[in-house]
Amino acid sequence: MSPPTTTLITGGSGGIGLQMARLLAARGQRLVLVSRDAGRLQAAADELQRAHGAEVHVHAIDLAEPGAGQRLFEHTQRQGLRIDALVNNAGFGIVDEHVAIDAAQLQRMLQLDVVAVAELCHRYGGAMKQRRAGRILNVASTAAFQPTPYFAAYGAAKAFVLNFSEALAKEMEDHGVSVGCLAPGPTDTAFFDGVDPRRIAGGHHFGKAGRADPRDVAAAGVELLLGGGLTRVVGLTNRVMVLGNRFVPRAMVAAVSKRLLRPLDLRAAAR
Ligand SMILES: NC(=O)c1ccc[n+]([C@@H]2O[C@H](COP(=O)([O-])OP(=O)(O)OC[C@H]3O[C@@H](n4cnc5c(N)ncnc54)[C@H](OP(=O)(O)O)[C@@H]3O)[C@@H](O)[C@H]2O)c1
Repeated sequence: MSPPTTTLITGGSGGIGLQMARLLAARGQRLVLVSRDAGRLQAAADELQRAHGAEVHVHAIDLAEPGAGQRLFEHTQRQGLRIDALVNNAGFGIVDEHVAIDAAQLQRMLQLDVVAVAELCHRYGGAMKQRRAGRILNVASTAAFQPTPYFAAYGAAKAFVLNFSEALAKEMEDHGVSVGCLAPGPTDTAFFDGVDPRRIAGGHHFGKAGRADPRDVAAAGVELLLGGGLTRVVGLTNRVMVLGNRFVPRAMVAAVSKRLLRPLDLRAAAR
C-alpha cells in the first residue's frame, strides 16, 4: 500500500492531534485539520506551513452536533480532498457521578466520542474501501479496558472505540484499509483543563506528574497509523495495568477502579 498523502485529523488544533499533525507535516504529508475554533486551526496551519512547508486545509465544525460527520465528509468532497488517512482524535471526558452530569453535556460527549467516530469511519472508510486503500486511526484511552466509576460514560465510550476499531480492522483488512486503535493513558494536554482540580489531584496517576508527554503519545499514534497494527497502549505502566486486568476478576477490577478514581471531594463527602 502506498503511503497516505492526505491525512484528516479531528481535534488537530491542540493536544495529541496537533502533535500528530506536526509529525505528519514533517514527513511531507498534506493535512486537513478539523476542530471547532477557527482561530486555533489557522494558527496551527500557519505554524505547519512555516515549519515544514506543508499544505494544510482547515475546517471548523462542532463534531458533537448530530450529523456533523456527514457534513464534514460532504465538505471535503466539495473541496475535492481525497482523504487517504483518517485520525479520529477529537474527544473529551466528564469526571463526576453519572447521575450528576449535565444531560446536554453527556449527550455532546457521547456524540463526539462515539457517534462521530462511527460516522466518520462509515463515510471515509467506505470511500477507502472503494479505492482499496486507506488508513484509519481511532484514539481510545486506557479507560477503555475496565469500568471507570466517576468517569463511567467516558470509559464506556472509549471501550466502544476500542471494540469498534478492532472489529472494523478485521472487516477492512480484506479491502486494503488498515484500522488501528491508540490507547493513551493520562497525557499532559488541555484535556484536564475543565476538570475541577479536587477531582484530579491526589496520589493517583491522573495527577499532573503522572501524565505522559503528548509528543510521545503522538509518536506512538503516527507509528501505528503508518506502520499498521491493531491496538497500541501507550507507556509501559499502562501496558502492565491493561495486561494485569485480564487476570483479575471483573468485580475486583471495578472495586479497585472505584478506589483509584473516586474524586477527592466525593471521598470527603462520604466520610
Ligand atoms: N489527555 C489525556 O489524558 C487523554 C488520555 C486518554 C485518551 N485521550 C483522548 O485523546 C484524544 C485527544 O485528547 P487531548 O488530550 O489531545 O485533548 P485536548 O488537548 O483537549 O484536544 C482536543 C482537540 O479536540 C478538539 N475538539 C474538542 N471538542 C470538539 C468538538 N466538539 N468538535 C470538534 N473538535 C473538538 C479541540 O479543539 P476545539 O476545542 O477548538 O474544538 C482540540 O483540537 C481524545 O479523544 C481524548 O479522549 C486523552
